[in-house]
Amino acid sequence: MTDDLQSLRDDTEAALRRAADLRAWDAVRVSVLGKSGTLTALLKQLGGVPAEQRRDRGAALNRLKDDLATLIEARRGELEAAELDARLAAERVDVTAPPRPRETGSIHPISRTMEEMAAIFGAMGFTIAEGPDVESDWHNFGALNIPAHHPARADHDTFYLPPTAPGAPPPVLRTHTSPVQVRTMLREKPPLRVVVMGRTYRADHDATHSPMFHQLEGLAIDRDLTLGHLKGCLIDFLRSFFGIADLPVRFRASYFPFTEPSMEVDIGWNRRTGELGGGGDWLEILGSGMVHPKVLANCGIDPTVWQGFAFGMGVERVTMLKHGIPDLRPFYEGDIRWLRHYAASPFAPTMLHEGV
Ligand code: DAH
Repeated sequence: MTDDLQSLRDDTEAALRRAADLRAWDAVRVSVLGKSGTLTALLKQLGGVPAEQRRDRGAALNRLKDDLATLIEARRGELEAAELDARLAAERVDVTAPPRPRETGSIHPISRTMEEMAAIFGAMGFTIAEGPDVESDWHNFGALNIPAHHPARADHDTFYLPPTAPGAPPPVLRTHTSPVQVRTMLREKPPLRVVVMGRTYRADHDATHSPMFHQLEGLAIDRDLTLGHLKGCLIDFLRSFFGIADLPVRFRASYFPFTEPSMEVDIGWNRRTGELGGGGDWLEILGSGMVHPKVLANCGIDPTVWQGFAFGMGVERVTMLKHGIPDLRPFYEGDIRWLRHYAASPFAPTMLHEGV
């Protein structure tokens, strides 16, 4: 091999050794074998070599070219292996390291209560019904035997929306879930048994009232339902929901425009300790009654054939009582510390007590 070829080989070998990564390696490859590479230039000059030397020179250049190609490929292999080693070292996973704690979501106490209510009433044969938050005056009041100017309207602190037509009664944010009774009776043929759980709205705000809150509503219609069925159903529900098998339950005559007779329901508790059960004091917990014949008739059900009972209660209120939650406001604040304390694990089974 002539000196110039030998030194090209030596220089290339040295440059390859200096190339510390694939990018530097590629620069060396291009500088030798590329279009304007040193070896390419020598091959191009071959035509100018005197004829008697050209054969030998050509053969030598070709051998050198193969030789350099081999060197370059070998160096590529080394660099690739080194790069892989470095990556494997840097990205090594320590399978013995303890896992980082992972944040899991939780079920809001309101959702949890509604799940429990659905489970208990579901076991009694009730299905779930729904209705809109924005209601007509008729569904929220009129059909429920609360005509315009009825004094019961004053209790409801209603949010009114702009009327849809001049002179028409304005739509309202439903002040209770009772309008879903109306919608269910209009949609389905009796006998029926439904519970409704959803948002309700009243213009009232303090530690025990929120402008948006939740209610549970129940409605059962059949041919011969009596107060006895209503009482049995609610006693079973309350004992099951609060998990107290002998929870005292008291029915007290009351008044609602949409039921006759009407009863408020109290449960036993200890006013001093806040403990539920036999403490000698009574706590009002829900409203109920036999569906007023006028309400049945308003909803296309013949009151001489069908009777029904209905009830309604505040979801926040029973949740606060069950879990000893003192203040209503944090229910809607999304404070992670409060949720960690009161919210339920999504992995815990839904509570269902014996005897339901
Ligand atoms: N709608 C009533 C309220 O919001 C609660 C209620 C009372 C519902 C008696 C009923 C019932 O279905 O029968 O205050």
